[in-house]
Amino acid sequence: MTQHFTAPDRLTGNTGTQWWRDAVIYQVYPRSFADGNGDGMGDLEGVRGRLPYLRDLGVDAVWLSPFYASPQADAGYDVADYRAIDPMFGTLLDADALIRDAHELGLRIIVDLVPNHSSDQHEWFKQALREGPGSPLRARYHFRPGKGADGELPPNDWESIFGGPAWTQAPDGEWYLHLFAPEQPDFNWDHPAVADEFRSILRFWLDMGVDGFRIDVAHGLVKAPGLPDIGGHDQLKLLGNDVMPFFDQEGVHAIYRSWRTILDEYDGERIAVAEAWTPTVERTAAYVRPDELHQAFNFQYLGAPWEAAALREVIDASLAAMRPVGAPATWVLSNHDVTRHATRFANPQGLGTQLRTPGDRELGLRRARAATLLMLALPGSAYVYQGEELGLPDVTDLPDEVRQDPSFFRAAGQDGFRDGCRVPIPWTVEGSSYGFGSGGSWLPQPDTWGGLSVEAQTGDADSTLELYRRAIAARRDHPGLGAGDDVQWLDAPEGVLAFAREGFVCTVNLTGSPVRLATPGRVVLASAQLTLGEGQFDLPADTTVWWTV
Ligand code: GLC
Repeated sequence: MTQHFTAPDRLTGNTGTQWWRDAVIYQVYPRSFADGNGDGMGDLEGVRGRLPYLRDLGVDAVWLSPFYASPQADAGYDVADYRAIDPMFGTLLDADALIRDAHELGLRIIVDLVPNHSSDQHEWFKQALREGPGSPLRARYHFRPGKGADGELPPNDWESIFGGPAWTQAPDGEWYLHLFAPEQPDFNWDHPAVADEFRSILRFWLDMGVDGFRIDVAHGLVKAPGLPDIGGHDQLKLLGNDVMPFFDQEGVHAIYRSWRTILDEYDGERIAVAEAWTPTVERTAAYVRPDELHQAFNFQYLGAPWEAAALREVIDASLAAMRPVGAPATWVLSNHDVTRHATRFANPQGLGTQLRTPGDRELGLRRARAATLLMLALPGSAYVYQGEELGLPDVTDLPDEVRQDPSFFRAAGQDGFRDGCRVPIPWTVEGSSYGFGSGGSWLPQPDTWGGLSVEAQTGDADSTLELYRRAIAARRDHPGLGAGDDVQWLDAPEGVLAFAREGFVCTVNLTGSPVRLATPGRVVLASAQLTLGEGQFDLPADTTVWWTV
């Protein structure tokens, strides 16, 4: 396919606008967004049909989770062919049409790149298995003889993120490494063919016209030499302070430097964002040094509880970590791997990202709306996960027999609850799967979904959807709201966050009760009903208000 880029002016050329610094980026989870062909599974045609909705929501870019050819052992994060679309999502022509249409609407497209591992059905892995021990074709993955008298034990003590050992024995007796499911063998990034292949895959999608990449498991590509045992560590604490021999190794940075030179060769400011679970925001900052990637997800922010001190600390730490490297901070509350924030905040303390209890829904939604207004007032780039603009809760009562998340089927003690945030989203009040598609939905939607649909909320000034629309528009209208690298904290009672940006103030009440404050200016937007008095007002519990001053 030849290179094309038929975007309007806003998207073309190296204008140096650095659009990504303050962008609002909307995550589409293709299987659950919209179903164009009525088979119960979302697809690219479905996404394409809903692009005008995303334009009207006001987002700058759309990140699509993987749609590549895949046996779907991990919902597409197990890629069998990086240059092909899985038939369940459509064809390359559909991808081409989607990219073109998005550009015509002024939306950028970011695709997911999965370089840590492939599917076990990838041609290279099938070859590796066929060729047997000692074959150079095995060296593109991590194959090792086992330990024990007959090699019956895994080569080291690493465990899979999804539970169970990180090694599986091939029929010929050697073991291969998979940090995730056994169907996701890890590439050996010390092998030059792996690096060459991914540079070529990057170019393939850049030539297709995509505006950027979300790099899956960006911290995992390089493993410590010799694949040493980790000993007594609790490796599942990804946000702990220990550096693991399979995560956040120095060698990953050379890979991203080489990718940056490729991105920079293309016009239109193509970007990459790292999914890097590192122990600290300072370590995350290393991924976004000027010659590496553009952004990295802020999982410390995502993991923060609904508490003033904790939030202020993570906001300050994030801004401070990004400042020296000149990268924008990013903010995210929900994605396809964690319990939706409306449900996290509905539960005591809102701690933990994987929950199975619905909690107090009304409270959760109230806090979720307040949290969103806080996020959108911060300098940097914000990520919105499909359905959060509808205030969707996690579906916490999915029956076990409909679950598909591989971590659910692995050893006990793992999260396994990711299906709850992946239920197809409702578009209409009535109808098959509430407008998701004409043929039902691959995960059952709750009966209450119609009332939360786009149709039900559109035009209702109090709805969460209209709050998101107004907030994103106001963020764009208020020059500089997403720009800059700092906030100025204002004096406020304990449990209240108040900060200023140029000509703007944001106040958030996390005390759990109303707080009387001096009115700082004129209200732009509030996440809940407000009553203003003379020079002062009562900021209700779990409410955020934006002011112009
Ligand atoms: C990332 C993805 C997650 C996937 C894993 C393995 O964390 O976000 O969904 O299961 O990588 O690819």
